[in-house]
Amino acid sequence: MSTETQALIAEYFASDTLAGLPRDHWIDGQWLAASAGESMETFDPGTGKAFASFAAGDEQDVELAVAAADKAWRGAWGKGLPAERSRVLYRAAEGIRANAERLAVIETLDNGKTLSEAQADVRSAARLFEYYAGAADKLQGDTIPMGPDYVSQASLEPVGVTAHVIPWNYPFSTAARGLAPALAAGCTAVLKPAEQTPLTALLLAEILHRAGLPAGACNVVTGTGNRVGAPLVAHPKVRHVTFTGSVETGRRVMQAAARNISSVTLELGGKSPMVVLADCDIDAAIEDVLWAIYSNAGQICSAGSRLVIERSVHAEFVERLAARANELTIGHGLKNPNIGAISSLEQLDKISTFVEDARTRKIKVAAGGTRLTDPDSGRGWFFAPTLLDDIRPMDRLVQEEIFGPVLSVQVADSIEHALVLANGTEFGLAAGIYTRDITKALRLARDIDAGQIYINEYFAGGVETPFGGNRLSGFGREKGLEGLRSYCRTKAVTARI
Ligand code: NAI
Ligand code: MG
Repeated sequence: MSTETQALIAEYFASDTLAGLPRDHWIDGQWLAASAGESMETFDPGTGKAFASFAAGDEQDVELAVAAADKAWRGAWGKGLPAERSRVLYRAAEGIRANAERLAVIETLDNGKTLSEAQADVRSAARLFEYYAGAADKLQGDTIPMGPDYVSQASLEPVGVTAHVIPWNYPFSTAARGLAPALAAGCTAVLKPAEQTPLTALLLAEILHRAGLPAGACNVVTGTGNRVGAPLVAHPKVRHVTFTGSVETGRRVMQAAARNISSVTLELGGKSPMVVLADCDIDAAIEDVLWAIYSNAGQICSAGSRLVIERSVHAEFVERLAARANELTIGHGLKNPNIGAISSLEQLDKISTFVEDARTRKIKVAAGGTRLTDPDSGRGWFFAPTLLDDIRPMDRLVQEEIFGPVLSVQVADSIEHALVLANGTEFGLAAGIYTRDITKALRLARDIDAGQIYINEYFAGGVETPFGGNRLSGFGREKGLEGLRSYCRTKAVTARI
């Protein structure tokens, strides 16, 4: 561990906070206190204690931020040279890397995840800016053959002001996932981080400013979903809304956007299956399934939260997986255990309720199943890595997103049965397939209804790969070149000559 990280950790454990944390909104290129002068606290899930406060915004702050974004779109950023946008975004990637240690420590404190996980998130955010920096000056359109009497072209323009509503599970990398392509396309942005994890998005806005982004091109307004998120997504000057979060809030966001006929990208929940066939590399699959559900304490929209496994290998697989789950260490994220905290008390209660209900229904708990605290301090919000075995297809443990370290196991009698089970929910975000038979793998990949399919490595892919869901998991794709499309509109210009 570097000396910078060590010093930050020592400072935190000595003072229960860090010096120099952002506390205001970032609007029009500067820090701005909440119009109503109100603030809220953010908690360290690893201790369960508040460690910083931040601006509790409202509609007035949203108004200022949207006005600034609108001005920057009509001016410096929207009308600027694509090559200059590219340079600014490259410098932002470098700025993120230069601040990576501090960002990762703050992300760990705000969210509860492990330091290694936060460091990986910061690296992926830098990569997103680098990737879209390279695309900013390559948004080429088409020429359309209309015969000798016409010249026709279709060009891509930025849609305008975009709103980004971000959840608490990946606060920094999800902010980067929307901002980088939006800015690359020449759009401007107003971003609302989750009230549980507001800090790193504010730091990102400051990094973008130092990288040369003009005032107003990226604004961050903090506060609750009702007081900041709702007026933001309903604002008539917002032309596209990028939302990641729950299905219920996604519906509300889509309704609000409908009034303005503005477009939306919805990245919602999941209940993604991992289909393990008997002929797979079982050792490798056990490790992969373990991290597909227990990474980030299971708080991942695309977590592999269902194991669909062939009966002939089911008993042995579950026994070995349970043994591995029981070995995992848990604790404050800054001590870098295998699994960090649950990001909020509310979420911990939700997870506990699911598991308690399973117990009363005599479902077999093959591992975990209990709330925990940090073994060193006796504090914080933790849940043991949990395995619930042999769940019926219509059970709520199969149908509903728990969003925690809880894996539901479903036993399949054949590959056809496995496919039916895999497709047996209203979600369609991701799916894993484990087999040595490439024909079986590709047939399942063809037939499973999901936005991303991972064969023999869960979460395979990178910033280059389009990401998003089908059905209740949402629509629209982020990442990859497709991630730019939401931020562009096509203009056809045709001349008779
Ligand atoms: P949420 O969907 O309510 O919150 C996500 C974001 O939306 C936050 O920034 C929140 O302030 C904002 N928001 C809330 N109400 C809004 C509104 N009316 N208009 C605009 N923005 C609004 O999710 P919540 O309550 O934090 O978590 C509930 C469940 O949602 C979790 O248990 C999990 O199942 C799911 N979830 C899924 C995520 C994903 O990555 N797909 C991320 C976070 C939660
Ligand atoms: Mg927090």
